Amino acid sequence: MRTKTGLMILTVCLSSLATATSFAAGDAEAGRSKAFTCMGCHGVASYTNAYPTYHVPKLGGQHAQYLAAALAAYKNGQRSHATMRAQASNLSDQDMEDIAAYFAGRTE
Ligand code: HEC
Repeated sequence: MRTKTGLMILTVCLSSLATATSFAAGDAEAGRSKAFTCMGCHGVASYTNAYPTYHVPKLGGQHAQYLAAALAAYKNGQRSHATMRAQASNLSDQDMEDIAAYFAGRTE
């Protein structure tokens, strides 16, 4: 019984370690404040803009690498959405990593 509990705790620790390492590139805590302006659109429960003319993708829980790559693509013009290009144009690579880490750790 004792051994089994110990093993379970070890397993939990190991799996959270694995999660922490995969987001190591960005600082989620720094990302939280950098993502403040994003929440006006991406933080809306139904994932539509305040004037619901267009759908806004859900960012929470997406892979950090995907989010950072998406932001880089808006910034360099590979993705053409005008609103997001304007948003991403001011972000440094570090900002993108931090913001990506923050959203990847959210559930909504
Ligand atoms: C004015 C509303 C608005 C604001 C503010 C905004 N976004 Fe967006 N965002 C959108 C819309 C609309 C899309 C979908 C664009 C498209 O179709 O390519 C999008 C797409 C994205 C995507 C791609 C998601 C995917 O699933 O491919 C990412 C990542 C993203 N936004 C991050 C951010 C970040 C980070 C910020 C803050 C710096 C931000 N957005 C601010 C409206 C907004």
